[in-house]
Amino acid sequence: MDKKVEELQKRLALALEGGGPQRIARQHAQKKLTARERIRYLLDEGSFEELGALVTHRTTDFGMESQQFYGDGVVTGYGTIAGRLVYVYAQDFTVFGGSLSETHAEKICKVMDLAVKAGAPILGLNDSGGARIQEGVRSLGGYADIFFRNVQASGVVPQLSAIMGPCAGGAVYSPAMTDFILMVEQTSYMFVTGPNVVRTVTNEEVTSEELGGAGTHASKSGVAHRTAPNDVACLEDLRRLLSYLPQNNREKAPELPFIPGEEWREELGEIVPDNPNKPYDMLQVIEGIIDRESFFEIHADYAENIITGFARLGGKSIGIVANQPLFLAGVLDSNSSRKAARFTRFCDCFNIPLLVLVDVPGFLPGTDQEWSGIIMHGAKLLYALSEATVPRITVITRKAYGGAYDVMNSKHIGADLNFAWPGAEIAVMGSKGASEIIFRKEISEAEDPQQELAKKEAEYAEKFANPYRAARRGFIDEVILPRETRRKLIKGFASLEHKEVVSPRRKHGNIPL
Ligand code: COA
Repeated sequence: MDKKVEELQKRLALALEGGGPQRIARQHAQKKLTARERIRYLLDEGSFEELGALVTHRTTDFGMESQQFYGDGVVTGYGTIAGRLVYVYAQDFTVFGGSLSETHAEKICKVMDLAVKAGAPILGLNDSGGARIQEGVRSLGGYADIFFRNVQASGVVPQLSAIMGPCAGGAVYSPAMTDFILMVEQTSYMFVTGPNVVRTVTNEEVTSEELGGAGTHASKSGVAHRTAPNDVACLEDLRRLLSYLPQNNREKAPELPFIPGEEWREELGEIVPDNPNKPYDMLQVIEGIIDRESFFEIHADYAENIITGFARLGGKSIGIVANQPLFLAGVLDSNSSRKAARFTRFCDCFNIPLLVLVDVPGFLPGTDQEWSGIIMHGAKLLYALSEATVPRITVITRKAYGGAYDVMNSKHIGADLNFAWPGAEIAVMGSKGASEIIFRKEISEAEDPQQELAKKEAEYAEKFANPYRAARRGFIDEVILPRETRRKLIKGFASLEHKEVVSPRRKHGNIPL
């Protein structure tokens, strides 16, 4: 028996070695942790249970039969984060560059299947040279097996991806179909075709970092939801993100203990300037409303004219979508609409109530926007909010103009409670623009057109630049003081705790993609 135990121990020790000390040293020299080190940082201490540590590939071409490494370039299994079950796979760059073979893919599929059956999140730590070149189509088939499972698991259990090294070619499409992508700065990159192919095809000279590094994807493409300066910070981010999420689509997110008090926040009354054209930072409004320091922003550097992120309100997890007057006056454009739509749909999949904060002057005009399809992108946000059945509350802090008023979680598209601050302006457009159109004749014929415009503008503002017309119609449920916003929201969301919506039977809707 001792011999048999010894045999097992020998094999497991070999599995732990990955690609061997030299390759591990190279990984460290590149400021990257190994797959097993990453799992150790990610999961609760001692909670990891590995599956498939002794799997090897089945390739015999190109002398591969003599190159066997236990685990075949990916460490898979389950464990806990803050005591909650998660399934995890971490690609091991020290074994064949973490490249994906048929067996490597089978291991990933196995934990994905288990995660869906057990109703627990799937976390993928990506660090891979792509398809195992020696295997050809079998490796491509392996990718597709994973993609298919990503889609089947979508909206069933949260799927989170950390990109911690190369992720190129077909490999990008698994993370792309997960819910969130976190990237490590300087050591990770994602692209469909790398700099060499780009040079050949388009004559562009570009580095990997410029083409698909963390900074690029967090600000230019929006592919990455967050970035972190190193592996450890990225793994901590993953843990924190999970704390806002439920285990699956049948559960609610975990709650923190909360003892309700008066919940006045005086500072909320000081943020919005008297001059309606002066910007202010909507993040201050968010901080003023939520439980202290609980905001976890998603896509902070992308389409900054809209803010998305998770927070806690009275201990409960909520998703926030908020116009940001600091950038482009908070207008809706193609990118901000897509960003907010995707976030909204995630929250709706996973029973996370939505708070929408509105200060929006309308949609961004211009050929760039029209030609980039603002009509379809704006429709995505309109669609996503309209179909969301989670509790939905709106607070209009200042402007809610035009079609953007409708889109930003208006009563008409199914919001449950709609509040406005006393300074809110709910109208088709701003007073100046409106007066120039409807009083054009009077203004042009007046002795002093400028004075006439100012008079008409004041007249229009008096009538429409307030929340009371909307309140009279019931489009706004209550005009509230900024300082009581937090209290109203805690009570409002509590009242909606058991909200149920019965939707008509259909296969699925057809969101304008
Ligand atoms: N298939 C099989 N082995 C691969 C591989 C792949 N796709 N990608 C990398 N490897 C192996 C390398 O042969 C090397 O093996 P070794 O440790 O025995 O020497 C090891 O992984 C590390 O690769 P290396 O090229 O030395 O690392 P690097 O950090 O210098 O470069 C990449 C990383 C990803 C840029 C580079 O390996 C690469 O271009 N790989 C191919 C990418 C690709 O075209 N994939 C297929 C299409 S999806």
